[in-house]
Amino acid sequence: MYKISERIHYIGVNDEQKTLFEGLWPLPHGVSYNSYLIKDEKTALIDTVEHGFEDEFISNITSCINDGNIDYLVVNHMEPDHSSLISMILERYPDLKIIANAKTLPMLKGYHGVSEDRVKIVQEGESVSLGSCSLQFFMAPMVHWPETMVTWLPEENTLFSGDAFGTFGKIAQDPTDKAGTFDEFENEMRRYYSNIVGKYGNPVQSALKKLSSLEIKRICSTHGPIWAENIDKVVSLYDRLSRYETEKGVCIVYGSMYGNTATAAKELAKALENMGVPYALHDLAGNDSSREDGLGISGALMDVFKYDTIAVGSPTYNNGIFPPIETFMKALSARLIKNRRFFAFGSYTWAGASVRLLNGMASEFGFEILSDGGSFPQAFSKEKFNIEEAAVLLAGNK
Ligand code: FEO
Repeated sequence: MYKISERIHYIGVNDEQKTLFEGLWPLPHGVSYNSYLIKDEKTALIDTVEHGFEDEFISNITSCINDGNIDYLVVNHMEPDHSSLISMILERYPDLKIIANAKTLPMLKGYHGVSEDRVKIVQEGESVSLGSCSLQFFMAPMVHWPETMVTWLPEENTLFSGDAFGTFGKIAQDPTDKAGTFDEFENEMRRYYSNIVGKYGNPVQSALKKLSSLEIKRICSTHGPIWAENIDKVVSLYDRLSRYETEKGVCIVYGSMYGNTATAAKELAKALENMGVPYALHDLAGNDSSREDGLGISGALMDVFKYDTIAVGSPTYNNGIFPPIETFMKALSARLIKNRRFFAFGSYTWAGASVRLLNGMASEFGFEILSDGGSFPQAFSKEKFNIEEAAVLLAGNK
């Protein structure tokens, strides 16, 4: 438990056990599930936490209110990392009412068997008084699910933002941000956004516009630090990510069976390094534990959202694209990635298909195809695949 203000208490938990968020995304630095308790004439809980933290969560609550009652549980978002303990809370506090919007109701019934008489349905902009302060609700559909809303506490200029402005990474005992906290979390915030929310750029833009008239001095997200010192940087990063804005640089993503496409990828990286071009290199073959950064496709998506150019290496496999690379391309499609420069390369043995197929997919996404010449037979050599020429294309110097 950490007291943020006289009214607001942080009662979330750090998860350092889970290895894959949503069963997919590596968590080398853990993740926090944030929940908040607001103490006023009435007491309100904002969201709960994931299964497995029942004792810690109850202990955090009782350290705030002892055996006192909770009047409301605000459910901003129903994904189970925040809603898993709803049944437990309803049982422990039999007079408690859930505050949620109409889209949340079927999910409350389906996940927890909640009866309607325990739910107060709120509309866009509606307020509920807690005594000296009030909670106001704004719908934020698809940030990250259709039922998502955010809660505004005007008397404290505080926004309980759900997944918006969230990040992977465990947080300190004092969860409030300091001057350097944004720099510490920037990569994990970009990775979280690209992995989890990346498909929903337009809804994030709509939410940012809706919230732009609020004088926000504190953001209490469901994951990561509480933002106060770094609000401008955090909102600016989410704004740029949801606009699909990038910086100059190359995200090299490759998979390789016997090392020939891998050698080409590493030679490309070396050439970019020599030219002073920012780049990232992601190997998607094998599994997360066999790779250097342990991030796989999760890290590749992070850098796709960072850089303006994507170079994808795949050998021809069964007359198609190497499967992990095909999965990566589908992940780009699912996230509606646009405005990227694209270059494909890769080895084949008797008939080349991967480069042609990759360029075909990239064309459908609307990417700018830099060249169709990255295919080379059998072993890699600079005679078969002109690395310097490819690096110049990727750098945008031609
Ligand atoms: Fe952190 Fe969409 O749940």
